Amino acid sequence: MTPTLLRGRLLSFHRAPLSLADSQSYLYQEDGGLLIEDGLIASVGTYADVKAKAAADVVEIDHRPHLILPGFIDMHLHFPQMQVIASYAANLLEWLNTYTFPEECRFVESAHAERIATHFYDELIRHGTTTAVAYCSVHKTSADAFFAEAMKRNMRMVGGKVMMDRNAPQGLLDTPEMGYHETRQVISDWHGKGRNHVAITPRFAITSTPAQMEATSALAREFPDLHIQTHLSENHDEIKFTCELYPQAIDYTDIYARYSLLGPKSLFGHAIHLSEREADVMSETASVAVHCPTSNLFLGSGLFPLKALARRDKPVRIGVATDIGGGSSYSMLKTMDEAYKIQQLLGERLNPLESYYLMTRGNAEALSLADRVGTLDPGTDADLVVLNAAATPAMALKLEAVKTLPEELFLLQTMGDDRAVAETYVAGVASKKTLQANLQKSADLPIIS
Ligand code: GUN
Ligand code: ZN
Repeated sequence: MTPTLLRGRLLSFHRAPLSLADSQSYLYQEDGGLLIEDGLIASVGTYADVKAKAAADVVEIDHRPHLILPGFIDMHLHFPQMQVIASYAANLLEWLNTYTFPEECRFVESAHAERIATHFYDELIRHGTTTAVAYCSVHKTSADAFFAEAMKRNMRMVGGKVMMDRNAPQGLLDTPEMGYHETRQVISDWHGKGRNHVAITPRFAITSTPAQMEATSALAREFPDLHIQTHLSENHDEIKFTCELYPQAIDYTDIYARYSLLGPKSLFGHAIHLSEREADVMSETASVAVHCPTSNLFLGSGLFPLKALARRDKPVRIGVATDIGGGSSYSMLKTMDEAYKIQQLLGERLNPLESYYLMTRGNAEALSLADRVGTLDPGTDADLVVLNAAATPAMALKLEAVKTLPEELFLLQTMGDDRAVAETYVAGVASKKTLQANLQKSADLPIIS
């Protein structure tokens, strides 16, 4: 592949920023150059320096005055819930039973799963998300569709066939044996193929019998390098029901601990209402709490104490995510806008540098994948997002008043969405423009560049 040289304003984090003034925590290159070779970032620096080192036949793409960042990472969402978004329900359990479970039953049909998988990746790319951690449905067909489409697009994806054997419609239930064997099959079919990562995925303790939790535990022992994803402590009624189902456990977190499901590759969606004891255990096991702000507000689940968990003596590792379709937007910018507002309601500050760290390097570290994605470091995958802070007339007007980089980032987070994503690169390939051109072609519209 011919090398590509991108020119633009580069931003990439070295570590979590300690304050808004912590300019040591990131690289910012005003007139930056980023060289892509064979899908990887080959070099980064000033445009002049990178250009001087590049081959004579390098293809140049000028993104000035836009920002070039590592592609966004979404740590938790449900691929079969694209048609569940915007469902009117009083709370989590009503929403699951009324809309979500019936919709997920449809994914037994591979044609449906394949159709939704196409839309799923289109939406991620349109919103600048290049890596995501997804739940499929209980059906192996859904995992096959999910991973096949990821491979076609050459995207780095984490996903899993959901395991669930009770408290849901018959069409959504497996058994401990089926869940175990089909998960093993998904691992052997897809893990490590292309850029795919398979996650062991018991939906949550309510929908898994103790026998299925044992099967999950066996998978975790057999495949210790795989991610594990599940839900934890999202809603008060859910917590009460869960603890009734596992009366021997001290609390919700203890249920997962009893099956050895806590650890540095374990991702717990929501984790809003943890006790001090649970937060200690999460910290001691290096487990990750995944904050899903638009979902938590939409379902009225609660206010995630992100800052309080991060500054404990025993800090909890944190990721951020959309949680489509409990979440209401595919945009990680909108996600961090809502995360900011939740901290405001808790009397805390979440500054824009922290937000952009979380969406990129922070989530990559939470996934133990920072050596591959989440930064602009040479040698890592060229998965990138290009952001335009003047994407709408209202944003352009506000931008006139912006004086600093954090102000621009905050404007993008507060007012931006997919319209602010000028381009998305997947393994070095400009994918958003291609997608839009294809959409226009299929609609037989004139292509506007
Ligand atoms: N808990 C168990 N399943 C789900 C789900 O699909 N969405 C959310 N938000 N919480 C869950
Ligand atoms: Zn979820």
